[in-house]
Amino acid sequence: KSIALIGAPADTGGRQNGCLMGPDALRTAGISDILCNMGYEVDDLGNYNATPTVEITHPNTSVHHLADYAALISMLGAFCRDSLANDQLPIFMGGDHSIAAGFLPSLAQKAADDGCEQFVLWLDAHTDFQTLESTDTGNLHGTPVAYIIGDPAFDGILPSPIRPIKPENICMMGIRSVDPAESARIKNTKIEVHDMRAIDEYGVAQPLKAFLNRVRSAGGRLHVSLDVDFLDPEIAPAVGTTVPGGANFREAHLIMELLHESGLVTSLDISELNPFLDERGRTANLIVDLVASLFGRQVLDRHTRSF
Ligand code: ARG
Ligand code: MN
Ligand code: MN
Ligand code: MN
Repeated sequence: KSIALIGAPADTGGRQNGCLMGPDALRTAGISDILCNMGYEVDDLGNYNATPTVEITHPNTSVHHLADYAALISMLGAFCRDSLANDQLPIFMGGDHSIAAGFLPSLAQKAADDGCEQFVLWLDAHTDFQTLESTDTGNLHGTPVAYIIGDPAFDGILPSPIRPIKPENICMMGIRSVDPAESARIKNTKIEVHDMRAIDEYGVAQPLKAFLNRVRSAGGRLHVSLDVDFLDPEIAPAVGTTVPGGANFREAHLIMELLHESGLVTSLDISELNPFLDERGRTANLIVDLVASLFGRQVLDRHTRSF
């Protein structure tokens, strides 16, 4: 039961500065202590910054900070491959969501080396499925999912993902803001998407359990990518890209509890937390509470798996 905390204070994926303070806000909210008190051994490995070396440009001139993205991808990728001990469960503390493009391909490579499949639960208001060609904001935090599945639009500009994630191994929940280019392309992939409309109709438990059963039968590993804007802005204001109508407190905790009970989660990231936009730390505190639920804190002892 050993957890590694890895700070990845990336801040160039969007236009609202402040995500670089994310890792320290989570530390201030007590992420380490809460896990220690639950009996885990916690290793805070500090913050990993990427420094861009060469300039990279793209014909789509709205794209900005491409060299930072490239540096981030290779730094976090190499870190995952070379420094991450196999017996530790990593929690990547962002930073904006572009960090996912860095560690996910390396996690997929590690899984493949061990003969298993890498799955991803993407909890987000957005699909982050833009490419360098299709993005109109030019914000690279809107592109990591397209990058990790190996979309050819990145070829020759960024290093290709060392091992792409299979689209059918990705499940998205909480989706409620999709650009036209994204919705046109995502339909042609096998990515499983549960938008807020579906959650309103079926709740979170039914689709999540179905996905977890899929991961379990494949003998897969599961990464959970938690974008703070997955949550409703009423409970989680500290994010630059708030979208109304997000997951509420109870839905979010239930997801975390079901994830814990599944025993399948092998890594986690917390992305887009922007402490500059927080109100007396309440978003950071909420995230740390959700992390506690994900790692086994519960209201009453439940000795058996509920599904
Ligand atoms: N789709 C929009 C864009 O490309 C929003 C992306 C938001 N992504 C995020 N990680 N918050 O600009
Ligand atoms: Mn910025
Ligand atoms: Mn995101
Ligand atoms: Mn988002």
